[in-house]
Amino acid sequence: MAGHGGGNLLAISDLHVGHPANRAVVTGLRPESPDDWLLVAGDVGDTVADIEWALTLLRHRFGTVVWAPGNHELWTPPSDPVRLRGVDRYQHLVELCRRLGVLTPEDPYPVWQGPDGPVRVAPLFLLYDHSWRPEGLDTPEAALAEAYRTGIVCTDEFLLHPDPYPSRSAWCAQRVAETGRRLAEVDDDLPSVLVNHWPLVREPTRILRYPIFAQWCGTEATADWHRRFRATAVVYGHLHIPRTTWHDGVRFEEVSVGYPREWRPRPVPPAWRRILPAG
Ligand SMILES: [Fe+2]
Ligand SMILES: [Fe+2]
Repeated sequence: MAGHGGGNLLAISDLHVGHPANRAVVTGLRPESPDDWLLVAGDVGDTVADIEWALTLLRHRFGTVVWAPGNHELWTPPSDPVRLRGVDRYQHLVELCRRLGVLTPEDPYPVWQGPDGPVRVAPLFLLYDHSWRPEGLDTPEAALAEAYRTGIVCTDEFLLHPDPYPSRSAWCAQRVAETGRRLAEVDDDLPSVLVNHWPLVREPTRILRYPIFAQWCGTEATADWHRRFRATAVVYGHLHIPRTTWHDGVRFEEVSVGYPREWRPRPVPPAWRRILPAG
């Protein structure tokens, strides 16, 4: 895009590069211009080596790469020689990103220069807290019990350790509090692009095949963040249901690639999605 020098703001998520076909998708990703930014909204891969491979490649291709973790990055799977858990694992990935020159939720929120003016890009790491529950299940415990009863249980229960927090919900509460404080401290009026692996509002989860799964998809605590923090767009993934929805006039983009069995039947091969300039 001529005239503003900032390139395009592109986004993608759920690369799941442990799958060879997805690795080929990543290998084929190229910017439109060398100045383009790529927002990577989590679930790059399951092992540190896979994550490093993908982010290294993308960092060489795109002008700026911004990463927010997904649940898969935070797993400690048996196949990974890196045995770090929870906060230690997240910090390890943040340090990896710093070595590669990839921006994370722990860095000052960068500003992208668009044709309509500057936009603040905020990668977030917020997790979930079992507050998105089916009607009639009044507590997180009841929702989890129902999930076990029906056999729809997220693998996070076994592989995403919250250490040193007592639970993933407690870790989520800490992340929401700290991130909300940081976003509120931004003292200019720039519009924002919020980037979080999990959707910030519940509505996109209403079409899940198994509604009980929504308890692993976000938190009620961020229901008004797109309005409070002046979002011009919200980028997320995790649901593996790529689409655009509007909430309170704000554009939400689900930008996931997903698993080969999910994307292969689609008419269009997986690629990044342009967030800005819009249209
Ligand atoms: Fe995913
Ligand atoms: Fe995910």
